[in-house]
Amino acid sequence: MNLLNVQNKVLVTGGTGMVGRAMQEIMPNANYVGSQYDLTKFEQTTELFLKFKPEYVIHLAARVSGMKGNMDAIGEHYTENVLMNTNVLEVSRIFNVKKLLSVLSTCVYPDNANFPLVEEDIHQGEPHSTNLGYGFSKRMVDVQARAYRRQYSCDYINIVPNNLFGEHDNFHLVKSHVVPSVIRKVYEAKRNNTPLVLWGDGSPLREFTYSKDLGKIIIFAFNKYSGEHPINVGNPGEHSIKELAEMICEIMEYKEPIMWDTTVSNGQPRKPSSNKKFLDLGWKNENYTDFKVAIEDTCEWFLDNYPKVRGVE
Ligand SMILES: NC(=O)c1ccc[n+]([C@@H]2O[C@H](COP(=O)([O-])OP(=O)(O)OC[C@H]3O[C@@H](n4cnc5c(N)ncnc54)[C@H](OP(=O)(O)O)[C@@H]3O)[C@@H](O)[C@H]2O)c1
Repeated sequence: MNLLNVQNKVLVTGGTGMVGRAMQEIMPNANYVGSQYDLTKFEQTTELFLKFKPEYVIHLAARVSGMKGNMDAIGEHYTENVLMNTNVLEVSRIFNVKKLLSVLSTCVYPDNANFPLVEEDIHQGEPHSTNLGYGFSKRMVDVQARAYRRQYSCDYINIVPNNLFGEHDNFHLVKSHVVPSVIRKVYEAKRNNTPLVLWGDGSPLREFTYSKDLGKIIIFAFNKYSGEHPINVGNPGEHSIKELAEMICEIMEYKEPIMWDTTVSNGQPRKPSSNKKFLDLGWKNENYTDFKVAIEDTCEWFLDNYPKVRGVE
């Protein structure tokens, strides 16, 4: 089965978000929904499935934030995501969905895990304290998927990307992730002639995957993988926040110094992940878009669309 050949039977939750919008370009004839059906509610989730009667589900919907947004609303991230995931996986079972793919995050990994992060270690300790609610809520998808596979033979798979960025990201000053946050701050510092102040000291190392690549990865994993364990799929290769910030300043032609606000937490120093199992399925590292090219495309999209971008309007 090739998912691209059965697009009208596919339901994509979270279809209005960053990754959902990337998938719309690859799979234009699938069914995309945002929060008009509130997936934290069982009844609304059932109504959604009654409307579309999907045979295949890509579950992207989630309460998603960067580090500060996660810390400020740690309980909401836990409860909303647990409710959404529980409902989508349970209603998919009730409607005899043939296959479902959910998206976890490297935030699920324990704070004290060995590097690189490997799938076997997901439950071997608590997530970093900044991610406690989001991290555990996403881990529960793994638990529910495995339990349903064992009891009901549900073909539910989970992929684990690292930090995502791209067009249609959330550029909110508090709730965004590092890439959109830095793009917006550099742009506004240049436009307003104000100092560029970024959080932390710039030393943490992160891996990044372009949202358009994740769209392709989702199709690839859906077609090729059917195991009970989550699989890391992110673009490996660490970049410091300082390197990222300097790259964005160069692309946006911002020449003033960067000021680092070290009163704000750095978060985890690093969390490199191994995508070996994904490569064993036939994915190639060359399939990921070059990091700088993807950042350039994202900056260009931001400049073309500001201020009509999510989190600014
Ligand atoms: N962004 C990252 O860095 C990152 C990294 C690793 C994993 N992930 C995972 O990747 C997936 C996609 O992330 P993303 O960045 O595309 O997220 P996003 O841009 O924030 O989009 C979130 C989507 O979820 C929907 N949603 C939120 N609350 C909902 C609710 N109560 N009921 C129904 N739908 C709801 C939103 O609908 P509306 O548009 O209507 O609000 C939107 O379509 C998520 O599962 C996320 O956890 C993201």
